[in-house]
Amino acid sequence: MSDADLTGAGAGSSHPSAEIQAAWKLAAARAAVAAIPNGAVIGLGTGTTADLMLAALAERVRHEGLRVTGIPTSERTRIEAARLGIALADINDDLAITLSIDGADEVALPQLDLIKGRGGALLREKLIAASSRYRVIIADASKVVTTLASHSPVPVEVVAFGWRRTAARLAELGARPALRPLRDDPTRPFVTDEGHYILDCHLGPIARAEALAARIKDVVGVVEHGLFIGMTERVYIAGPQGVRAYDRPD
Ligand code: A5P
Repeated sequence: MSDADLTGAGAGSSHPSAEIQAAWKLAAARAAVAAIPNGAVIGLGTGTTADLMLAALAERVRHEGLRVTGIPTSERTRIEAARLGIALADINDDLAITLSIDGADEVALPQLDLIKGRGGALLREKLIAASSRYRVIIADASKVVTTLASHSPVPVEVVAFGWRRTAARLAELGARPALRPLRDDPTRPFVTDEGHYILDCHLGPIARAEALAARIKDVVGVVEHGLFIGMTERVYIAGPQGVRAYDRPD
């Protein structure tokens, strides 16, 4: 895709065509990868934007001899990174994670709070983000919101046992939880890499995300949720004006 595609001519930033959105994702991915220092240990995110980041990273490894070690946030990413020849390590290895690079479903500016988990990897993503010194998010302009949950439900990872009871407790918090189905067979539930279910919780715009995050985390049966509050240092957003970097305000 050419740089001209970044202009998104004829497309509003909130509803770009699939092709323009893919060009924006690629531009954001490349911007993040360009800043990776030699010898970095990188948390490798999950999703379509993260897949483009893996390809851009593999290119730097192949063509520039960049030395990096990746720690994948999902089985999907582990398989793809290995296929691309990126050296990998395990989260339990005794390594300081220099930075993580991941996508997001919603990015609230200017504070850089996120909704993540549409790809089903939120638990490992949060574990790796929590262990990283510096957290980078890459996204296209359609992901930007001023208030979280403006467009996306909040994915909540729950233990399979008693999930209906857990869903009822989440409904008491004002959510409308829906069990995420398997894409290829909607009669069966999607199962995460850790063997859990996901309840996509429709909430509407969230006024106080931090308080809600704490209440969701308190619900018995909840393993983790897709609200990433105060867990991002930098975001690269690509849109009609090109790529812009945003740093979290102090
Ligand atoms: C994976 O679990 C998610 O957190 C993804 O990072 C997020 O859904 C963004 O995915 P896309 O890059 O595919 O939009």
